[in-house]
Amino acid sequence: MRRVLLSILLLIGVPALAQGTLPNVVILATGGTIAGTGATSTTTVGYTAAKVGVEALIDAVPELKKVANVRGEQVMQIASENMNNEAWLKLAKRVNQLLAQADVDGIVITHGTDTIEETAYFLNLTVKSKKPVVIVGAMRPSTAISADGPINLYNGVILAGSKEAVGKGVLVCLNDQINGARDVTKTNTATADTFRSPDLGFLGYMQDNKAHFYRQSTRKHTADTEFDVSNLDKLPAVDIGYGSANANDIAIKAYVAAGDKGLVYAGTGDGSQADGVKAALDAAHKKGVVVVRSSRTGNGIVARNGEVNDDQHDFVVADTLNAQKARILLMLALTRTTDTKDIQRMFYTY
Ligand code: SIN
Repeated sequence: MRRVLLSILLLIGVPALAQGTLPNVVILATGGTIAGTGATSTTTVGYTAAKVGVEALIDAVPELKKVANVRGEQVMQIASENMNNEAWLKLAKRVNQLLAQADVDGIVITHGTDTIEETAYFLNLTVKSKKPVVIVGAMRPSTAISADGPINLYNGVILAGSKEAVGKGVLVCLNDQINGARDVTKTNTATADTFRSPDLGFLGYMQDNKAHFYRQSTRKHTADTEFDVSNLDKLPAVDIGYGSANANDIAIKAYVAAGDKGLVYAGTGDGSQADGVKAALDAAHKKGVVVVRSSRTGNGIVARNGEVNDDQHDFVVADTLNAQKARILLMLALTRTTDTKDIQRMFYTY
């Protein structure tokens, strides 16, 4: 009888249940479009993000109960453009607390897509566990025709409860694709296939109620990083400057005057900087600000001592990190050291 029951369960595609135990997955809700509501079912622009609570998100996907024991916590309720350092610290601490519990197998975080890649990378560097952490979002609000939130949440819960995701670092899962936190970025303002890991590629698919991995990041993450935010309630101030034709030094000077400890400059091409910008960055460096040279292109390695003699200026290069992720690594690096050689090592490690 039991064998017949197991065969039926396998046939209807409920693998975890068929194995007799369901993973325990906690869903931490932070807001975003996945929790958004619009005036009508065709409202996919001009809706309000961060309206629906975590219990309603869970109730909207009854299939979750078949693949995991889920419970939810509303950690915050924001549109993700309002995500900030303090919220990241709160989230990282809660994730670490939960993952230290024997009765938690994995975590799903629901999040707005605009800064999902930044939260993912922050957690990738600060979560101290090999257990899966999966961040999901949606491009269409919960009230829309073909809302993508429910399927993304369903896939995220399966992924967070899977043994395949253990030790893979923080993952971002939307549109049936699994991306790694370090390399994923939002590439389109509106379409459901917006998340890409340019050049380097996504890690795998969610299909047929299962995670299928084909690659993984070679960079250190989670339990293998040197960063510990458990006793921090603040991060060093780091901002981003952006290169263009006719670039000027106004923003850089303002950031330094405001007390920034680090600056990331998303330069043109291979991280090149207009002469006036470089002079302002040199002046910032003289005041003790650590300068990281990144690129606005969004792809490729910023070559050390290429467009700029980094040894001479004592700048750090961002490797392949985009400016918003370089900002995160620089903040965390500055919690450990101001030594630019050591910070450069970190940029080649994470
Ligand atoms: C947000 O990032 O909170 C709004 C946009 C989205 O979730 O897609």
